[in-house]
Amino acid sequence: MIMAKVLVTGSAGFMGSWLQDELLAQGHEVVGVDNFLGGYERNVNPDCDFRKGDLRDSKVCEEAVKGVDVIYHLAAYAAEGQSVFSFDMINDINIGSSNRLLTAAINEGVPKLVFTSSMAVYGEAKPPMDETLPKKPVDPYGWGKAYFEGVLESCSNAFDLDFTIIRPHNVYGPRQNIADFSRNVVGIFMNRIMNNKAPYIYGDGEQTRAFSYVEDAIPAIARAGFEKRARNQIINVGSDEVVTVNQLAEIVLQVMGSNLKPVHVEERPNEVKHAWCTTKKAEDILTYKTNHSLREGVEKMAEWAKEVGPQEVKYNLPLQITKNAPKVWVERLL
Ligand SMILES: NC(=O)c1ccc[n+]([C@@H]2O[C@H](COP(=O)([O-])OP(=O)(O)OC[C@H]3O[C@@H](n4cnc5c(N)ncnc54)[C@H](O)[C@@H]3O)[C@@H](O)[C@H]2O)c1
Repeated sequence: MIMAKVLVTGSAGFMGSWLQDELLAQGHEVVGVDNFLGGYERNVNPDCDFRKGDLRDSKVCEEAVKGVDVIYHLAAYAAEGQSVFSFDMINDINIGSSNRLLTAAINEGVPKLVFTSSMAVYGEAKPPMDETLPKKPVDPYGWGKAYFEGVLESCSNAFDLDFTIIRPHNVYGPRQNIADFSRNVVGIFMNRIMNNKAPYIYGDGEQTRAFSYVEDAIPAIARAGFEKRARNQIINVGSDEVVTVNQLAEIVLQVMGSNLKPVHVEERPNEVKHAWCTTKKAEDILTYKTNHSLREGVEKMAEWAKEVGPQEVKYNLPLQITKNAPKVWVERLL
């Protein structure tokens, strides 16, 4: 493979930091940008040309894209459930930074942009969700992702810019932010258990998901920047092992050696009951493979979480609307 200069946005975050490491290991020159809103300085690889900055600032984007061959755009405030109550702030961040980055990329003549969208764009479609389904999100985070997918596709047509849209689903693993009150479920369960508190499950826990271990997902996302067959494609990336949230809780509790029992609380508004995706296209084009069973992935993450230790729960972005919000969020019971 020809070595390239790549930009990873959100490189101090969970997936961005794994991606930065993967691309560096492949011999690429990696520029990283993050404002530490959801990420950590400890995730920044010393070999990465890292710049602390907010992508809503055009100047940050213009500097970051200089001479870049491929942009991997991961930066976002990825709080899907919370987006129902804080859509103003969350979409200001996600849409604002994406628009500014794309503008800078087009003006610089960057040839390729890989965007991590989300399975959230499928909304309540019947699983397994495949890439040909229409976009019908049910929450503002999903609408933000769908919006930028559309902008990217139309700009690709108008300018000389190739894209790949990756729709990851329920990625988890070491380095994930486990301190946030609203995301993501595996980390929240682990942090509650380490704080000797029972995991909360919203609703009956019979929601189904396919949780995807980060080390399985990242090589496929890295490949999307260089694989010719990924040009202007939308590709789901993630596991095909479907479990209920109740089963997930049981596995996490067992792996962490806890006798706590989950506590069921009220359902969250607009939470999709069944959501998991086809993986065939990722397997064909990006040689994606699920190498870790959920239990194996949870074991690796638990080992890391125990090293990091119990975290104080953070309420980084407030609930802008408390009406109909889960009581455990409003009363800060997490
Ligand atoms: N983790 C998942 O299960 C999952 C599933 C589907 C899609 N995604 C998408 O993948 C991407 C990465 O998700 P993640 O789980 O690693 O989240 P993350 O929060 O760990 O990483 C995102 C990073 O972006 C940074 N960031 C946010 N706004 C920024 C801004 N304006 N300027 C600069 N940096 C900014 C944050 O500080 C954070 O480090 C996101 O786009 C997310 O929407 C994640």
